Amino acid sequence: MRIDMELERYLRPPDREMPPYPAKVITLATGSKMVVRQVFREDVPAILPAVRPTLDIPRDYYDVVGSRVYAELLAWYRYRYRDVFCIIGQIDGLLVGLVNSRMFSPQLGISLHTLAIERGLRIGAHLFAAKMEHHIEYLGQEEVLITAESPIGFRRWMIEYGLELREGQHELGGAAPYALTREMYFDAKHRLVAGERPVPQELMEVAQREIRVASETDIIEKILGARRREIL
Ligand SMILES: CC(C)(COP(=O)(O)OP(=O)(O)OC[C@H]1O[C@@H](n2cnc3c(N)ncnc32)[C@H](O)[C@@H]1OP(=O)(O)O)[C@@H](O)C(=O)NCCC(=O)NCCS
Repeated sequence: MRIDMELERYLRPPDREMPPYPAKVITLATGSKMVVRQVFREDVPAILPAVRPTLDIPRDYYDVVGSRVYAELLAWYRYRYRDVFCIIGQIDGLLVGLVNSRMFSPQLGISLHTLAIERGLRIGAHLFAAKMEHHIEYLGQEEVLITAESPIGFRRWMIEYGLELREGQHELGGAAPYALTREMYFDAKHRLVAGERPVPQELMEVAQREIRVASETDIIEKILGARRREIL
């Protein structure tokens, strides 16, 4: 596709310099090691096939969240989304979940979405915690605005972190915005933010070699688990 670079100067948002998120490894309840690391614009095509199957899963609002994540990743890849970051979880290279977010200003973070592809291991909870860690500890922000699109999300973020209800709207539209402040983050850190650094070299090499994506059938099976037949 030919891109008119003259016009692109007006269409592409400026990119803010953002400090990197240092990778970490989390040992899950099963003993599996999940590498949690930042990915970049060029990684988006490898990630999209893991999100696409969720578009057809209404259960737990995977369709709503998945289609928004898909659009956000694509917009970022095509230079249509400003100051975004994305962190993924991988077990043996396999993509098991992701979070995305953005910097609205140096002080304020906007939490976008959290998507767990492997379920029942708090993978989504760990990745959300990594996203908050990045906003507060590495990007040095004062506050992150968060909204929920699903009952599980509401339990995981608003209740588990005791988030503070705010006036106004979150930029995703939808339900009310809640805030995680620096103080609340450091209060919750010992309970909710897990992981060790640095990631052992052999684990990091496997993660970086390839972002592996399960087949569409496996992804649907992993998300719906044993309840699948009853639901479809
Ligand atoms: C919200 C989300 C990220 C949380 O991920 P998570 O922390 O890994 O948690 P899970 O989804 O695996 O589990 C949530 C609950 O459902 C249960 N559960 C586990 N496997 C499940 C399955 N196959 N189907 C349904 N529920 C399942 C878990 O036991 C857990 O119960 P608990 O809250 O009492 O611990 C994830 O549910 C998700 O991606 N949902 C769809 C998108 C979404 O809602 N994102 C957040 C928007 S605010």
